[in-house]
Amino acid sequence: MRALRRPSLVVRYLRRAWRNRRLRRGAATHPEFYRAVMADDVRSRTAKGAVGTASEEGWQAAGRKQFRFLRDHGLTRRHFLLEIGCGNLRAGRRFIRYLQPGHYTGVDISPEILLAAQETIVEYELQDKNPRLFLVSGVSLEFLAPESFDVAHAHSVFTHTPIEVVMAYFAEVHRLLRPGGFFDFTYHDSDKGAWSVLAEDYYYPTSLLLERAGDVGFEGRQLEDWTYSQPKIRLTKPT
Ligand SMILES: C[S@@+](CC[C@H](N)C(=O)[O-])C[C@H]1O[C@@H](n2cnc3c(N)ncnc32)[C@H](O)[C@@H]1O
Repeated sequence: MRALRRPSLVVRYLRRAWRNRRLRRGAATHPEFYRAVMADDVRSRTAKGAVGTASEEGWQAAGRKQFRFLRDHGLTRRHFLLEIGCGNLRAGRRFIRYLQPGHYTGVDISPEILLAAQETIVEYELQDKNPRLFLVSGVSLEFLAPESFDVAHAHSVFTHTPIEVVMAYFAEVHRLLRPGGFFDFTYHDSDKGAWSVLAEDYYYPTSLLLERAGDVGFEGRQLEDWTYSQPKIRLTKPT
């Protein structure tokens, strides 16, 4: 019905379906496909648009919300923070400013968005904070030392990844966190099983994500005081 009232939505959907079919043909894995999606989105929109907030106000608001929530829910300046899918540092720039130098690590699968992240560091004069930014394969963080982080954060990343990628990150983050450390991430909630749209948007029941996280040793719960279109789960590594 919504589509009938707004034919432009149908046109947009068909364009995306066609684009994604083409990009999937050249990709062996989902992260490779999504890397191509990001390259196309940065090129055809902007880096801000590619992370989901085309306007300056929207980009600032989305970053502010993530930052304030994490700061008010346990992140201290002395913590070492890992941000998975850091994008162009919409929230990352605020984490970097807040944390002690060298305590922020951002990883992403997209070279284009990491170049935009470097521009953000220059724009906000954060060079002295020595943020670490890494291009990653999209499933493995083997190059990072075990138990070297206190907090991990992934906003609007597992909304774009299949369950095998989510599970790989659960195992990696569990390895990387110190005992007592926690991992907050957002997701699209589903009350009718796991499903996806155009291999670009993924929906999961909360219970499924908590079960999979439990399999690798996490204790988890949904964070009720986080109010946003995507709910948030906190996983804690037991001490
Ligand atoms: C919607 S954007 C959000 C960016 C950032 N978290 C923020 O809130 O501004 C999703 C980001 O996740 C990255 N991404 C997608 N799949 C990934 C994966 N498997 N590993 C790491 N990053 C990934 C994308 O390249 C993109 O930068």
